[in-house]
Amino acid sequence: MTFSPTPKQPSRAVMDQVEFNCGVMHIKDHSPRQLSEETVKMLIQRSQEAKQRAYCPYSKFRVGAALLTLDNCVITGCNVENACYNLGVCAERNAISKAVSEGHRSFKAIAISSDLSDQFITPCGGCRQFIREVKSLFGSNWDVYLSKPDSSYRRMTVDELLPVSFGPEQLYMRKEFETLTDA
Ligand code: THU
Repeated sequence: MTFSPTPKQPSRAVMDQVEFNCGVMHIKDHSPRQLSEETVKMLIQRSQEAKQRAYCPYSKFRVGAALLTLDNCVITGCNVENACYNLGVCAERNAISKAVSEGHRSFKAIAISSDLSDQFITPCGGCRQFIREVKSLFGSNWDVYLSKPDSSYRRMTVDELLPVSFGPEQLYMRKEFETLTDA
């Protein structure tokens, strides 16, 4: 398995928006609710770069994800499979776990890419639940950019991807039976 230690430089067109700090890309994005076209483009580009680092010898299905944190850091992830198949990790969950373990708790958006030429990649059910757990300025209903290799994309919200979802709030709602001791 090979990992490239530093992310590739973004295209010249977006360089003026970008600075690197300890290998983590920081971008200048001041958009409140919806990302600028330029930022979306860059986030998709970063997810495509992450896709190139996918370790998927079993499925041969590469996926990359790029998360934009509230403080404008870009954290990427790719799928990492394992000979013990069920231990494989999806790109989205990898990116979110990396971000949270680096101290990021709030996000603006996530971009996802794969090699599917005719279809926007959609996150699996487990990743939708994982995405739903983390917060943005707008609560848990934040933006997911599903892309194709030609960088075209479809924007969806977490609510659209996972309606009537289960979340942390449910754990604290009134229950028929309260377990007062350790179950
Ligand atoms: N995969 C992801 O990384 N994200 C998804 O949302 C869908 C599936 C990965 C898991 C596995 O390594 C490969 O794609 C085939 O399922």
